[in-house]
Amino acid sequence: MALTEIPVPDTITQIVISPDAERLIDFANERIEAFMLGEETVSENFVPCDFHLLDQALTWIEQGHLLAGNRFCELGSGFGVAALLAAQRGLEAVGIEVETNLVEQACRLAETLKLSAEFYTGSFVPREISGILDLGSDIEHVETFEGDVYNEIGLEMDEFDLFFAFPWPGEHQFFEAVFQAAAADNALLLTYRGRDGMHLLRKV
Ligand SMILES: C[S@@+](CC[C@H](N)C(=O)[O-])C[C@H]1O[C@@H](n2cnc3c(N)ncnc32)[C@H](O)[C@@H]1O
Repeated sequence: MALTEIPVPDTITQIVISPDAERLIDFANERIEAFMLGEETVSENFVPCDFHLLDQALTWIEQGHLLAGNRFCELGSGFGVAALLAAQRGLEAVGIEVETNLVEQACRLAETLKLSAEFYTGSFVPREISGILDLGSDIEHVETFEGDVYNEIGLEMDEFDLFFAFPWPGEHQFFEAVFQAAAADNALLLTYRGRDGMHLLRKV
């Protein structure tokens, strides 16, 4: 199975963000700022992405009818804002995060905003992929030794239609390798690439 890029146009920055999404993003940013200032044990791996651009990319994906189904998974979910934005637009959304304190924050945010996204503590890297530890050997910012959480979720990676991740620079190939090995045909992987914006792949 190959991965095909679906180019995301720069013009997505002109897509209007709904008032509900704006409220969610503002609220999340306030919580994140307070957490970063107050929390002594913030994982150095946690950096939030550009949530406005993320919401615009989700709108663009929906408007282009690119989704094969309704299930969304945020890989390394931090505060869970991607999963929350997906839930707000009616997707069945989960987030997977290794840091317990970040999962707690994501759950609190979901509860406050009354959104149905669910968050799980553990690894998004499926244990059964052969050679995955070798693949991840150069990767500094993804935890590759924790157990995965797909049993607990009750869904395997190949049951999700859209994944989102914010890989550290130079580490997106690892996410792509996991996606290629474990996702279903037609599933999408959206990644945030900092200054290079959003990047979208389909497994075909
Ligand atoms: C760059 S942050 C992105 C957070 C969030 N997705 C966002 O865009 O705001 C990456 C997150 O992945 C988490 N992480 C690293 N390895 C992981 C793994 N194997 N499974 C789940 N989460 C992981 C880190 O703790 C960190 O919170």
